[in-house]
Amino acid sequence: MATIAVATTRSDEWFGHPKGLYVCFFTEMWERFSFYGMKALLLLYLVKYHLFSDANGYNLIGAYGGLVYAMPVIGGLLADRWLGMRKAVVFGGILLVLGHLGMAIEGHPASSVNGVVTRDAGALQVFYFSLALIIMGVGFLKPNISTIVGKLYPENDPRRDSGFSLFYAGINLGAAISGVLCGWLGETFGWGWGFGAAGIGMIAGLANFLYGQKYLMGHAEPREPTKLRERVFGPFSREHLIYLGALAGLVVVWGLIQSHSLFLKIIPGVFEPSPVLLGMHLVTLCLLGGILWFMFTRCTKIERQQMFVVFAFIIFCLLFFTLYEQTYGSWVLFSDRVMNHGALGVEWTASELTSLGAVFILVLAPIFAWAWPRLDKAGLNPSKPAKSAYGLTFAGLAFLVLVWSARHPQTNGLTSIWWFVFAYFVLEVGEMLLSPIGLSAVTELSVPRVVSLMMGGWFLGTSYSEVLAAQLGKLSAMEIPEGAVLNIADALAKYDQLFVFSAKIGIASGIVVLIATPFIKRWMHGVK
Ligand code: PHE
Repeated sequence: MATIAVATTRSDEWFGHPKGLYVCFFTEMWERFSFYGMKALLLLYLVKYHLFSDANGYNLIGAYGGLVYAMPVIGGLLADRWLGMRKAVVFGGILLVLGHLGMAIEGHPASSVNGVVTRDAGALQVFYFSLALIIMGVGFLKPNISTIVGKLYPENDPRRDSGFSLFYAGINLGAAISGVLCGWLGETFGWGWGFGAAGIGMIAGLANFLYGQKYLMGHAEPREPTKLRERVFGPFSREHLIYLGALAGLVVVWGLIQSHSLFLKIIPGVFEPSPVLLGMHLVTLCLLGGILWFMFTRCTKIERQQMFVVFAFIIFCLLFFTLYEQTYGSWVLFSDRVMNHGALGVEWTASELTSLGAVFILVLAPIFAWAWPRLDKAGLNPSKPAKSAYGLTFAGLAFLVLVWSARHPQTNGLTSIWWFVFAYFVLEVGEMLLSPIGLSAVTELSVPRVVSLMMGGWFLGTSYSEVLAAQLGKLSAMEIPEGAVLNIADALAKYDQLFVFSAKIGIASGIVVLIATPFIKRWMHGVK
């Protein structure tokens, strides 16, 4: 691959970083604003407006989450090989604007008469199509905007790490504002207002990128522009075919997402995946097959062992996010149904509270950034696998906090909001220990030629987390008969069961990873 060396001058920089970093920062901030603003409302909207059963609501958010993080594997590869990152981000951004604005079309609320639910079928089709647009949009935008950040710095530039930290702060700034804003608009004025606000945020993100792309200094251009322009099928160039393929993919995803509650009895009782899961398994098999082939034919023994360690980190992330992603599933219904909402003189709605995760990241990130070098100097900096083990344990402990709160309700029978806030805090300590470490391990331990494939694997791991988080959430699904009020004690007992199980997953996997740490370290061959 030919790389173009671009001399950077002071005028290309702003506060010590390339101007392109700020372009990526704001684009991703707005993209995550729209993504998480929408996600904060999604399950509540399904259950309360379209009267989905809890189980079907969880199935849909699982299918959506699974597809939305499987698609970056393809979007990343297409950009890497042909399209270039800049064009991919613009294309993804356009799909995202359309998808988020489409979500604002609510149609009629569902009604239930004698147990028969009537839904607005037309509006639901618009809704599914909007989800498909968002899934394809994230697939083109999310992996590539992060890759651009990496390309803005020459290799071994000491500013690269702080550049990525700033970028991660942008992600969480967007998520922190949007949960509160879109949640408040959506739950106070009507769902469409919240979803529409997410769409307007994405317009700002796209406009920012279109204006700022000149500052990327050619780092995000296609590898071989002539090949991209070459006509390969009648009047169509490779570039046209990519866009047309994406539009065809859109239709496929539109169909797939509607099959969220369908399970294919391939081997009855043993292998009954949903069509979405089957698609994910296929992508995984192709990716895994390709990488294993590469590892066993093109790698030295040391490289191979380091690549296996990357697989291990991907699995730790998968486990962690299986617990974490419940914050947009079971935690939302838990806080909506069985918790007191008053704190600091404000009644906080369930969707607004999803912002807590990002808020705590913003608070904790500088503390961790300050602490690591100091611990390192004192010889107390834990290894990467040990940090992952602690991260998983903290995720488990966060669920124990919720177990405690469910077993000690306040005088009105509902749980305290402050325990909920504390659970988020503990969970985010876990995220700080595990997520950035996993990401840097992928980039440091993978053989450079396949680093974008391994990043795809990392996203794919998260897509399984989404499906598993939704499956776990279903353990707490409850059907409230028409006109009946929720029995709080019964509901708390269900959440108790789910949270105990989730806590066990976190703590047990933390212990297993800690025991495996010396072996993993050996296969890291000196990478810290
Ligand atoms: N907060 C992170 C983000 O939105 C969570 C994440 C982790 C997303 C891994 C995708 C993959 O970027």
